[in-house]
Amino acid sequence: MKDNFYITTPIYYVNDKPHIGHAYTTILADVLSRHNRNMGNNTFFLTGLDEHGQKVQQAAENFKLNPKAHCDKMAPRFIELWDKLYISNDDFIRTTETRHKKVVKKILQIVMDNGDIYEAEYEGLYSVSEERFITEKEAETGVYRDIKTLKEKNYFFRMSKYQNKLIDYIKSHSEFIQPVHRKNEILGFLKKPLNDLCISRPKSRLHWGIELPFDDQYVTYVWFDALINYITAVGYGDDQIMFQKKWPASLHLIGKDILTTHAVYWPTMLMSANIELPKSIFAHGWWLMDESKMSKSLGNVINPMDIIDDYGVDPFRYYLMREMVLGQDANFTIESFVQRYNSDLANDFGNLLSRVTTLIHKNYFSEIPSPGKFDEQELFIKLNSKSLYDNVTILFSEMKLNEAIEKIMQFIRSVNKYMELNAPWQMVKEDKIGAGRILYTAGEALRISAILLSPVMPNRTAILLDALNSEKNDCSWGGLKSGNIIKKHSSLFPRIK
Ligand code: ME8
Ligand code: MG
Repeated sequence: MKDNFYITTPIYYVNDKPHIGHAYTTILADVLSRHNRNMGNNTFFLTGLDEHGQKVQQAAENFKLNPKAHCDKMAPRFIELWDKLYISNDDFIRTTETRHKKVVKKILQIVMDNGDIYEAEYEGLYSVSEERFITEKEAETGVYRDIKTLKEKNYFFRMSKYQNKLIDYIKSHSEFIQPVHRKNEILGFLKKPLNDLCISRPKSRLHWGIELPFDDQYVTYVWFDALINYITAVGYGDDQIMFQKKWPASLHLIGKDILTTHAVYWPTMLMSANIELPKSIFAHGWWLMDESKMSKSLGNVINPMDIIDDYGVDPFRYYLMREMVLGQDANFTIESFVQRYNSDLANDFGNLLSRVTTLIHKNYFSEIPSPGKFDEQELFIKLNSKSLYDNVTILFSEMKLNEAIEKIMQFIRSVNKYMELNAPWQMVKEDKIGAGRILYTAGEALRISAILLSPVMPNRTAILLDALNSEKNDCSWGGLKSGNIIKKHSSLFPRIK
């Protein structure tokens, strides 16, 4: 039985061009999608753009464009970057699309009809930058810019009504909020009474949004609109068969900055609309630069394009996946990128690759030699390749991608040791059959490693697997075909000086 795997990224604000943080979450989702496809699971990968609300309206004004024109100008920047990064998403949603606006209105009406939306007059402190009313206490912290007093009639969602139901749900579904420290953070937050959520904005102050179906003087609060994208894309209210097949999502991948909206607003919205909750929400940490968060407002973001242009997409993906422990923050530096590249990719992986292929070209007319009769050493590598596969599968399911990659690298290093110990470049002079057995074993280990690394480095592993001219998908031992001709290719991981 194939499993269903529906994975989402946040839909990013189009107030500026994409940066490394956006690239990171999207690459991570891509790696998980590719891994699941390799496992034979029925995979659906969604990403897209959050195009309404104050931030986008403001950005458009700054660029002297109307908001829709601004979005249409920005969207290709994201789409082109995802193409360049080999992102294999199955759909790309924009919240200004008709399909999405319809679903938002539908959900608003359902929640309204359930008695979960009411009107109220509210007076309080409002943060323009945060686009929401803030408490006196929050105002005193000094982190909110542009605070003003505002008195407004608005529509509120009875989020408080679902507080206990949500707490019970989180407690009885251990996988719902991950990692566990994020779950505890949300449970801590839910110890205080939950407020109802203001879900409207008067058009007098914000016009760029989806009009409320029950009051044309208001648009929908951007988060109430944006979260719904996850059900729009899989056919809610439109394609019932698809919706039943794909929903609930397996995994909402997010950064820790948007945990509350996903772990509190979204599930209570779904409860009110009588829709199943997603199976899990995973919040990863931040990429930091010099220990501070990379953000547009701080102006310290690395342009991913620069690194890609200088060093290639696959090494960039490799670094991001290898270096971040999922759930914790990580520090991005060019120095650690170069170091990681040279040690893992140029030395370990690249070295094994060039040794094996060069020796086969030189001594065997480019023909993959026969494995012959295996010795203990070969049987050991064969056994390790099987447990490597099992380990990588488990580590992926536990979201320990850096450890999975490290396990693959350890295997590669052990094969390099095996090569050095047996020195087939010497042995070939006297014992061509023996040297052939070693090259077959190392080549087969290389093939299996390349398949296991293919979700992380889809492009270069494809070149390698193509060159090996053998089985490209199956990790079980023996896929390397003796007698097949190894193709020539340029160096895949040249050393960075
Ligand atoms: O919040 N390190 O969009 P956004 C790691 N539109 N990840 C980072 C990062 C960093 N330094 N900076 C950003 C929004 N991210 C809403 C989402 S979803 C229904 C609506 C990533 O453009 C991370 O995934 O501010 C974070 O959650 C997301 O970008 C925020 O993107
Ligand atoms: Mg943000």
